[in-house]
Amino acid sequence: MSLTVTPIAPVFCARISGVSINKPLDDGPFGAIRAALDAHLVLVFSDQPMTDEQQIDFSERFGPLEGTAAAGVNPGAGTPFARQSNLDIKTGAVIPPDDRRMFYQKANMLWHADSTFKAIPSLCSVLTARVVPPEGGATEFASTRAAYASLSEPQKAEIEDLVVEHDFAYSRGLVGFTFTPEELAHTPPVRHRLVRTNKATGLKSVMIGVHAKCVVGWPEDESRGLLDDLLARATRPENTYRHDWREGDVIVWDNQAAVHRATEYDTTKHQRLMQRTTISSRAVSAK
Ligand code: OGA
Ligand code: MN
Repeated sequence: MSLTVTPIAPVFCARISGVSINKPLDDGPFGAIRAALDAHLVLVFSDQPMTDEQQIDFSERFGPLEGTAAAGVNPGAGTPFARQSNLDIKTGAVIPPDDRRMFYQKANMLWHADSTFKAIPSLCSVLTARVVPPEGGATEFASTRAAYASLSEPQKAEIEDLVVEHDFAYSRGLVGFTFTPEELAHTPPVRHRLVRTNKATGLKSVMIGVHAKCVVGWPEDESRGLLDDLLARATRPENTYRHDWREGDVIVWDNQAAVHRATEYDTTKHQRLMQRTTISSRAVSAK
């Protein structure tokens, strides 16, 4: 059994096979996975059912885990996991569609990268498919490395030093969700450089998505115009990949060079539990 990396979409995404990621991994195979993430941005593994501990062990190979945002409303708050699910974590019962917890998850259907609203952005996420609905609930990915590559040289120069404000309250507000003052206090707006450079490959991307509220110092219409144009470039069909989940699938994605979004499923008829760990880009020594 040898580790194989097979591209599965035109410009990014690869399937990794020939390795068990739910068992302790030697540095050799992990190094190949890490390099594949830098090269392909989204990695798909199949038939790798994981316990919570196994998911944490695998995720921590990439770096330190983030805590979970929005205590109370985020199914998974207080654990290292973010759960995209219509199942009550304590009772297992289906959460009614008008429940605040379901409303909170609606913003996942807008193109986003995880945790760009945090002071230290995320390196990557690991999502494990625990319960998969028989229809619907696919996840779509798009390459913001491809968006950057599609720019002209003058356009690249124009955006090189831009700083973008990311705001969780703004992005949740787009779907009509309002935070309590206490929730708001945990997620003040933050600023990040728009253009990101992958340390291993030197390839540039743009960190955008629903939390990106504005370009600092730009008039609102120009700012919105740029962010929308970059997202439109990223989400051109040839720059996207859609994943229909099977139980035991695991996907690792880059949060600085790719965006993703959830798609509809019938939350009243079917059950879905996807469990995410989010890896911080902070250096381990800065803990
Ligand atoms: C996530 C996410 C999409 C989905 O876990 O960060 O956006 O389809 N998931 O559940
Ligand atoms: Mn997400």
